[in-house]
Amino acid sequence: MFSYLLGANILAPIGPKPTRILDVGAGSGRWVVEVAEEFPSTIVTGLDLSPILPHGTIPSNCKFIVGDLTDGLKFDDGTVDLVHSRYRRASPPLMRIINAGVKQTQWPCYMRDVYRVIKPGTGWAQCTEFQGHGLFSEGIVPEDSAIRQVCANTTSSLTLV
Ligand SMILES: C[S@@+](CC[C@H](N)C(=O)[O-])C[C@H]1O[C@@H](n2cnc3c(N)ncnc32)[C@H](O)[C@@H]1O
Repeated sequence: MFSYLLGANILAPIGPKPTRILDVGAGSGRWVVEVAEEFPSTIVTGLDLSPILPHGTIPSNCKFIVGDLTDGLKFDDGTVDLVHSRYRRASPPLMRIINAGVKQTQWPCYMRDVYRVIKPGTGWAQCTEFQGHGLFSEGIVPEDSAIRQVCANTTSSLTLV
C-alpha cells in the first residue's frame, strides 16, 4: 500500500548503485525483497525482533537478521547507503515507531545510530510514518474508505493491548 501511495519503495535520492541498504523493523520482509529485486547487486538486510521470513523466493542479495534496534545497529560506521524504517501509524504525543518498538525517549539514540551507519555525505535515512487522522478531519478521506477502517481497527487493537 505504501509503495502504491508513495509511488516507490525508496523516495530518498540514493545513487544508482548502492552497496548496502538496511530495513529496520522489516516485518514481513516484503520491502526488503522488493528493494533487493530492484537493486540486484546491493546487499539488502532486514532487521527485526521477530524471525519472520517472507513468503516465496527470496533474492540471494537479501539477508534477514534477528535483533533489537534498541541494542544498537550492528553495522560499521559509514557503510550503509540507506536505512529505512517504516511503521504504519504514529500516535502523537507517544510518537512510537516500528510498532511501539521505539519509544519517544529512544528516538534520539536510534537516529544517532542511523546517522553513524550511513555513508557520510551520501547516505540517507528514510522513515515513513502514517497518521491518518489529520486527513480524516479535513474531509479528504471518504467515510467509507478502507484506510479509515484500517485506522479504526488499529486503534481498537492498540486499546486492547
Ligand atoms: C508494523 S511492523 C512494520 C513492518 C514493515 N516495516 C512494514 O512497513 O511493513 C513493525 C515491525 O517492527 C518490529 N520491531 C518492533 N520493535 C523492534 C525493535 N526494538 N527492534 C527490531 N524490530 C522491532 C516488529 O517486530 C514488527 O515486525
